[in-house]
Amino acid sequence: MKIVKEIEALKSVLNHVRGTFPSIGLVPTMGALHQGHLALIRAAKSQSDYVVVSIFVNPIQFNQVKDFENYPNTLEFDLELLKKEMVDLVFIPSTKEIYPKQVGLSLSFPNFDNMLEGKFRPGHFNGVGIVVAKLLHLVQPDLAFFGQKDLQQAYVINLLVEGLSFGVKIVVVPTVREEDGLAFSSRNLRLGLAERKIAPKLYETLSLAKKRLLHKKTWQEVKRTLTKELEGIDSLKLEYFELVRLPDFVIVQHCAADAEFALCIAAHLGDIRLIDNEIIGFHPE
Ligand code: PAF
Repeated sequence: MKIVKEIEALKSVLNHVRGTFPSIGLVPTMGALHQGHLALIRAAKSQSDYVVVSIFVNPIQFNQVKDFENYPNTLEFDLELLKKEMVDLVFIPSTKEIYPKQVGLSLSFPNFDNMLEGKFRPGHFNGVGIVVAKLLHLVQPDLAFFGQKDLQQAYVINLLVEGLSFGVKIVVVPTVREEDGLAFSSRNLRLGLAERKIAPKLYETLSLAKKRLLHKKTWQEVKRTLTKELEGIDSLKLEYFELVRLPDFVIVQHCAADAEFALCIAAHLGDIRLIDNEIIGFHPE
């Protein structure tokens, strides 16, 4: 497994690789790797001939300095894991390498910037869009892999690559969950014992909501009862719990037949903010 830290070194390895391997797969990460990342890497290994993983905690996608500063760093463990997964190349740039000077541009996603993650994390999608665009330019992969847990992010990246004709296929890999249903996330590492016990409530809520909607309960009723339950939990602060239409993420009040929707949830457990989602397809019987 090759490890490179500089853009010039990355380019020089990849110039050679491109003539030898039919396809390159990229898995962008911020490190603190877990089972969810492993699912992305395994999907990349099975669908491409040469796999590049990037580890870069992107400062410009954090809207809170504290969240950036506290982001877990488990680099040694991550590299061991990547070696075991037989990843071909790991790119670990410094912040200076990616942003040698202040970024003088911004990206906007009008349908996303004021919605759910976009609304509660101002500037987040601008930061994600810029770093993903940079990584795609630098690596020029045939495929790039992202997790369903960050569903809105996956749709934003799709908009980016379609809108700017990047010519890369975006693969969205289903969320991987712990036994009790909690979606794997690097932030889980920072949950205290008490919060960790409560955290599976998010997925429990999504699953119950999905079941009730499929049993033709109204969204209004489902949202009201489940929100009340969550609001009764002391250390949990619900940020949003919404039903959105896919692919445009418009918040809706009911599901129509023959369309796809997602239930999206975000909550703070102590200092930690967690998000999750569940996709619902309604098709005529
Ligand atoms: O999902 C993440 O880990 C990050 O948002 C990404 C896509 C690596 C960009 O920094």
